[in-house]
Amino acid sequence: MSEKKPYYITTPIYYPSDNLHIGHTYCTVMADAVARYKRLQGYDVMFLTGTDEHGQKIQKKAEAVGVTPQQYVDNIVDGIKKLWATMEISYDDFIRTTEERHVKRVQEIFMKMYEKGDIYKSEYEGWYCTPCESFWTETQAVDGKCPDCGRPVEKAKEEAYFFKLSKYQDKLIELFETNPEFLQPESRRKEMLSFAKQGLADLCISRSSFDWGIPVPIDPKHVIYVWLDALTNYITALGYPDEPEKYNKYWPADVHLVGKEIVRFHSIIWPAMLMSADLPLPKKVLGHGWILFDGGKMSKSKGNVVDPVKLIERYGVDALKYVLLREFTFGQDGNFTNEIMLNRMNYDLSNDLGNLVSRTVSMIEKYCGGIVPGAGAEEGPDAELKALAAAVPGKVDKAMEDFAFQVALEEIWTLIRRTNKYIDETAPWVLAKSEETKARLDAVMHNLAESLRLVSVLIQPFMHTTTTRMREQLGLGTADPAWEDLNAFDVMGGQQVKKGEALFPRLDVAKELEELEAIHQAQLAANEAPAEPVKEYAPIKPDIEFEDFEKIDLRVGQILEAKKHPKADKLLIFQVKMGSEVRQIISGVAQSFKPEDCVGQKVVIVANLKPRKLRGEESFGMLLFGENGERLEFVETKAPDGETVG
Ligand code: ME8
Ligand code: MG
Repeated sequence: MSEKKPYYITTPIYYPSDNLHIGHTYCTVMADAVARYKRLQGYDVMFLTGTDEHGQKIQKKAEAVGVTPQQYVDNIVDGIKKLWATMEISYDDFIRTTEERHVKRVQEIFMKMYEKGDIYKSEYEGWYCTPCESFWTETQAVDGKCPDCGRPVEKAKEEAYFFKLSKYQDKLIELFETNPEFLQPESRRKEMLSFAKQGLADLCISRSSFDWGIPVPIDPKHVIYVWLDALTNYITALGYPDEPEKYNKYWPADVHLVGKEIVRFHSIIWPAMLMSADLPLPKKVLGHGWILFDGGKMSKSKGNVVDPVKLIERYGVDALKYVLLREFTFGQDGNFTNEIMLNRMNYDLSNDLGNLVSRTVSMIEKYCGGIVPGAGAEEGPDAELKALAAAVPGKVDKAMEDFAFQVALEEIWTLIRRTNKYIDETAPWVLAKSEETKARLDAVMHNLAESLRLVSVLIQPFMHTTTTRMREQLGLGTADPAWEDLNAFDVMGGQQVKKGEALFPRLDVAKELEELEAIHQAQLAANEAPAEPVKEYAPIKPDIEFEDFEKIDLRVGQILEAKKHPKADKLLIFQVKMGSEVRQIISGVAQSFKPEDCVGQKVVIVANLKPRKLRGEESFGMLLFGENGERLEFVETKAPDGETVG
């Protein structure tokens, strides 16, 4: 037996900043279809997905709900994994960038680039788009907006490490020019070619103004820029560099499937990083279009999100997958509406496929005692049906080479529709009237069953649960189908058919639309944001005596001055007014507050704590703060300074 050929496909690793919506499921459903298709053809497939968990956006989100970033992402990632389980997504590995295996490997890759001489320290001054996690120059950020998403950018000025992206400009231009297959569709390739030709500036690859990230190994005050961290997932998941078995087998990837808005990161930054680390480039980066909803990009912040879970609960996984794969042209944007989905379900799934299966199985039960007859003599439209059945697999294969899912499904549906027409042409109910035409009736039933058997194999990558249900009804057993099953048209005979429930019951579109709208409104009203992560508070300390408490003198104070401790990064030195007295108090809160923001703040002071020296400066008492995740908040009071707190 020959060794199976490896095939490696990836999706973007999504930000666990919110629950995923139909847009994310679109990319994952396409990747799943390709993975299943390649497995059906006998490839050894590696299908990778995961989550991109570091960065400023996630840190801010977590702060907003008052949990640690890790608690925040753990909760969302749980939901993402549940969604993929509900959708029966067949990934082989799920990588989280907070996993130890990833963290240490990113640092090793960073060091390779550093040792190559491609990383240097400087200062970053420019703009930053937090939702996109991308840096922009003054000229790029027109009117203070992100050129990618149009949202406002923020000023960033900090000491940072830079990657010599400019050094790889010519090599990238050469890549786009000499290997057009590398980046598709063509429109994206042209766009990136001209982007590279305009000149590539060195890329800022570290941040020091927040800390939710992987520390730069040579300078742990900095965290590695989230895109550098994220892009490496495609090889860290394969064990590169310390456990290279899978890496050696699957890298370079056959395809990185990504949305068009992140093509730039995948076709410019990622290849340059790989060049720097002396590693081979992926074979292909494929940018898909966006799913639009009422003309705008579906996005959580716009509230126009269709919840895939609600649709699956109501119509099943395969209906949603079918609509996503059939309705949109790869590379282009497309509109998603409930009406489009419901009509596709009624016409393609219920009328064309569902009816064909139920009619065929009923007729075999009625005319053949429920047993599929063997092949008979060829007559009338048989040759045409068989010729089409023989031609369709090749056409599907051609379409799948081009990731043209809609074409692949259209081709399969030509066979389904031709088979429906075959029933009308052969009119089995007429053949059933006379014993003389029994042989012909059997041959017709055989051909119908054969045609459906082929359809069950062809749709498997796209709608595998329907494949299983069809094969059950056709008496084909539970063994996995294979692509080779498509080579013959005379396999069936002797199977016991078994009528089951309708594959896709016909829907009353008007009624469904009304009910879907009601569900959507209810969701909006309940503002079904991701369920709030469960917070773990510190346990309550053991009881103390009332007299113990009475010993503590708590007072209201007001901060008059605040400055950084000259010898300790974490400490701030406050001058606090307490009635007629002004005291110096030192607190380890420099990571939560800027000194200038503290002036004028009311505070609660532990006023009778013994003075102590902190790095050479004396502190008389202690300030109390509320802990909000990793951030501190002032304990507010309106009482005048000097008053006791009881
Ligand atoms: O960009 N239509 O993550 P992300 C179609 N973490 N596809 C859509 C879509 C829509 N309306 N909305 C999202 C990131 N997508 C980074 C990726 S990879 C190393 C790091 C899909 O959560 C589409 O595939 O913003 C898009 O590229 C991806 O989700 C972005 O997901
Ligand atoms: Mg995005």
